[in-house]
Amino acid sequence: MRLDVVTIFPEYLEPLNVSLVGKARTRGQLDVRIHDLREWAHDKHNTVDDTPYGGGPGMVMKPEPWGEALDEILASGDGEPVIVVPTPSGAPFTQQLAVELSAKPWLVFTPARYEGIDRRVIEEYGDRVDVREVSIGDYVLAGGEAPVLVMVEAVARLLPGVLGNAASHQDDSFAPGAMADLLEGPVYTKPPEWRGRGIPDVLLSGHHGKIARWRRDEAFRRTDRNRPDLIERADPAAFDKKDRAI
Ligand code: ADE
Repeated sequence: MRLDVVTIFPEYLEPLNVSLVGKARTRGQLDVRIHDLREWAHDKHNTVDDTPYGGGPGMVMKPEPWGEALDEILASGDGEPVIVVPTPSGAPFTQQLAVELSAKPWLVFTPARYEGIDRRVIEEYGDRVDVREVSIGDYVLAGGEAPVLVMVEAVARLLPGVLGNAASHQDDSFAPGAMADLLEGPVYTKPPEWRGRGIPDVLLSGHHGKIARWRRDEAFRRTDRNRPDLIERADPAAFDKKDRAI
């Protein structure tokens, strides 16, 4: 998968060199290209923002540098990318969207600073390619770079071969499948006793059926406690009789 990020803070994306995403890059599973938007600004101060039409506080990112940057990047690859525009006004970033994006060969992220990017840029590229305005949550950050780190990590770990054990995302909270509407339950490792606290006996039983049932019950309880909205909006058919008895 190819990923381009256009930003005025290229150093903000340095975490993409470490851990899971960094390894995926060195293994050639991810081709990440970070671009400095100011390279497409032409005045002596490399200006990328200006005052908003209609007045009001803050500044708006000018369309021309974005247009030149995106034209050049789009022309540099085969086919069409999906352009992901992080904005608190976007559609929610969900596991479902991460799965959808992980199947695309090429993503271009356009993290903005200030009050956002001149609307015409979104319209211009929306006429040419698939543009998604995406929010990572109902809070306002100072820019879209942290959301890009969040989205890239969520997408990269879904790519074939990136996580050591491919089965491990099937049990993720929000993963499509049996656990679609449930949060993941608690996990334990050695030692079997720590500060007087043991682990649930069922996990030592070796009985796979009972362990699966216990995991599902714990997931159901946790979801009911932390995110009752997920259970309320789920298809009732997703839950069996034993779930409902909890
Ligand atoms: N930029 C600022 N806040 C954001 C958010 N919550 N999601 C995506 N991009 C943002």
